[in-house]
Amino acid sequence: MPVSHPSDRLKSEIAAEIATRGPIPFARFMELCLYHPTLGYYTRGIGGGGGRDYVTSSGIHRAFGALLARQVEEMWRRGGRPDIFQFVEFGPGEGRFAADFMREATRSPAFAAALRYVLVEASPALQERQRSRLKGRTSIPVSWADEAGLDARAQFTGCLFANEVLDAFPVHRVVGTPEGPREIHVAVRDGEFLETPLPLSGPALERFLAESAIALEPGQEADINLAAPCWIAWTVGLLQRGHVVVVDYGYEAEDLYVPERRRGTLLAYHLHRTHEDFLERPGEQDLTAHLDFTALRRAAESRGARCLGLTTQARFLLALGALDFLPDPSVADGEGAREGIDPVEAIRDREALKELVLPGRMGDRFRVLVLGVGDVPRDLAGLSRPWARGEETAATAPLSPPRRSPAEEREN
Ligand SMILES: C[S@@+](CC[C@H](N)C(=O)[O-])C[C@H]1O[C@@H](n2cnc3c(N)ncnc32)[C@H](O)[C@@H]1O
Repeated sequence: MPVSHPSDRLKSEIAAEIATRGPIPFARFMELCLYHPTLGYYTRGIGGGGGRDYVTSSGIHRAFGALLARQVEEMWRRGGRPDIFQFVEFGPGEGRFAADFMREATRSPAFAAALRYVLVEASPALQERQRSRLKGRTSIPVSWADEAGLDARAQFTGCLFANEVLDAFPVHRVVGTPEGPREIHVAVRDGEFLETPLPLSGPALERFLAESAIALEPGQEADINLAAPCWIAWTVGLLQRGHVVVVDYGYEAEDLYVPERRRGTLLAYHLHRTHEDFLERPGEQDLTAHLDFTALRRAAESRGARCLGLTTQARFLLALGALDFLPDPSVADGEGAREGIDPVEAIRDREALKELVLPGRMGDRFRVLVLGVGDVPRDLAGLSRPWARGEETAATAPLSPPRRSPAEEREN
């Protein structure tokens, strides 16, 4: 008997849940698509390996992990050089960031001696790949923990980090109607999923809309990530003293819930194509939405953290010395070939670095949010502007979100 495809099996499971419970909120549908215990897209670890559906900054250039290591070394050094400093990476994907980070960290022996690298990874498939990538490559103590394990270690000194993790949390989709906001649910008709607007599924969503003063025009949609502010509040509570760093795409609320974004920011990713058929191929495609940085900051501040900065990835990486990673131009001119350096590789390397920092590419689509808990250094190097002596450049101009469609933003 032929074994059915995981996506067909997941589709049957979701349909069975809907048959029992009635239409489910889109957030529940998205949770099952991405995190079903055996059939979920991330549980199976199918999208990022080999860059099938998406590539993150961690996979683009080693400078990303290395520059973050420089930033964290400063947090440790100026934070009084504690004997033990925990660096916790959430959703480490393929483990590339961890490898690059630790390679750079070992350049400072005292920092490396204090560092404890903790990876938080729910997917057994991804955890396996991380273990094999990191095995035998570093003398820094490395361990894996789940959320309960972190709770048990709290409160500690260190830095908590997430790159492109919160955008993959399930979102509630709300649509404006003349009768007020309705929540998009997923139902089944004739064996196919379809979207249906119903009353809001719970008081937390109602509270969020009220707190954020979100007023949607009839037909305007917004994706509401209730899990991200809860996660931020939880991470802040883990720290006795330290920083939380979130790198992701997103906006302040005033630029996010605007009528121009008529369908919100949710996108599906499959084989490097973005589209809006969210109910297609359950468990086979990535689903992601932009973050609401205003809500994240509010949640952090409500737990006593201080927002130290919200900047672009370009500014952050350039301030930390991204240009140090540019290959010597003479290599690309061909002179390097004499020293055994492949000039084509040198050009490819340079292009990859440009992808991380150029405006219009990842440089301004991604933001870096830095939070401080307790008595910690605030004027961090990544938040400084060493080049800003009068003139603004494209990379240093004030944050003004480009008004492009979400699909344009993710595709260029
Ligand atoms: C787009 S991948 C990003 C991978 C990686 N950070 C990188 O830079 O390549 C999103 C990852 O976040 C993970 N994730 C989602 N929710 C999480 C949570 N609550 N805690 C830890 N990881 C989570 C997913 O399993 C997935 O591996």
